[in-house]
Amino acid sequence: MSQNRIIIFDTTLRDGEQVPGCKLNMDQKIKVALQLELLGVDVIEAGFPISSPGDFAAVEAICKAVKMPTVCGLSRAVEQDIKVAAEALKYAKNPRIHTGIGTSESHIVHKLRTTPEKVIERGVAAVKLAKSFVEDVEFYAEDAGRTDNEFLAKVIEAVIAAGATVVNIPDTTGYCLPGQYGAKIKYLVENVPNIHKAIISTHCHNDLGLATANSIYGVIHGARQIECTLNGVGERAGNTSLEEVVMVLKQHPELNLETGINTRLLNSMSRLVSESMAMPVQPNKAIVGANAFAHSSGIHQDGVIKRRDTYEIIDPLEVGVDESRIVLTARSGRAALAYRCKNIGYNLTKDELDIVYKKFLEVADRKKEVIDADLHLIMEEVQIAVNV
Ligand code: KIV
Ligand code: ZN
Repeated sequence: MSQNRIIIFDTTLRDGEQVPGCKLNMDQKIKVALQLELLGVDVIEAGFPISSPGDFAAVEAICKAVKMPTVCGLSRAVEQDIKVAAEALKYAKNPRIHTGIGTSESHIVHKLRTTPEKVIERGVAAVKLAKSFVEDVEFYAEDAGRTDNEFLAKVIEAVIAAGATVVNIPDTTGYCLPGQYGAKIKYLVENVPNIHKAIISTHCHNDLGLATANSIYGVIHGARQIECTLNGVGERAGNTSLEEVVMVLKQHPELNLETGINTRLLNSMSRLVSESMAMPVQPNKAIVGANAFAHSSGIHQDGVIKRRDTYEIIDPLEVGVDESRIVLTARSGRAALAYRCKNIGYNLTKDELDIVYKKFLEVADRKKEVIDADLHLIMEEVQIAVNV
């Protein structure tokens, strides 16, 4: 794989599905996994096999269903977790065990009630055990975002020596600023002597709305895998959104970083996840929100009608949206009205447009949005017939 290729690790079915109310049944999980394969993700984190018999069965079924992507199962740094994950992954063509432990002071002192030395010992033992089942072992340093860099480097060096092929640096609480997270990755690149033997992964949560920015700063500073979910679903404020990081990299060729994602499937994939999880996508969500390619103010509409890229940096077709939408509201101008009227068969002269515009504003002040049916009624009222 080229040095510039970013591995997309999708955790919609694990970190995403952890969200209350987002639970998927077995058929839905398999359907999502098959679509993720078509989308071109490199790794599917299919679940946390020890967490429930249902999750175990789903991971096993996904291993049988998909061919190309690596299938990953989560475990804690606990012997039984790792054994159960290995068992669930036994049918995978490319299995990966994802194991790890908290490394921040908060996790070590309050959650694990142990010592930094013991954390390193448990991490190393977990990786060694996982390695006895599969070649591909990813280690996560939970709460790495709030972990002291010097200690984090020690942990990462030890787990790579024990056989970890991927080292995940989660900003579990979404605390870091992009510059801090980028600097953390850079620190590891520069201070872990065996870092070249493993791939560094980002795993950013969105508590401060910085998950996408942090992941991008991570890859700019040397990470080569991004962990993310469709629509950014996940614990609390969610995970890094797959569609956002993929499109950031695509829209910024100067970064010289690419993914294997077929971006034309992003919109349908987002809808599948939203419908299956009964989790609506906010209309103003970047890339996949209903308004991501809708223009409603007169100034913007005039620009977009003259040339799409005056107000759109992404061609909607590139992400599987048929076209940009010109939405008619009381803030719309004559250009938008003429454009929408022409689309439904009325090519208006300047004088006709003046008349229609007056009527249109009356309707628009009463309604949130003026739709095609309203335009036909206006035309009837002012006695203009279809002429295109
Ligand atoms: O956010 C996190 O730290 C995680 C780990 C289990 C990878 O989800
Ligand atoms: Zn997470």
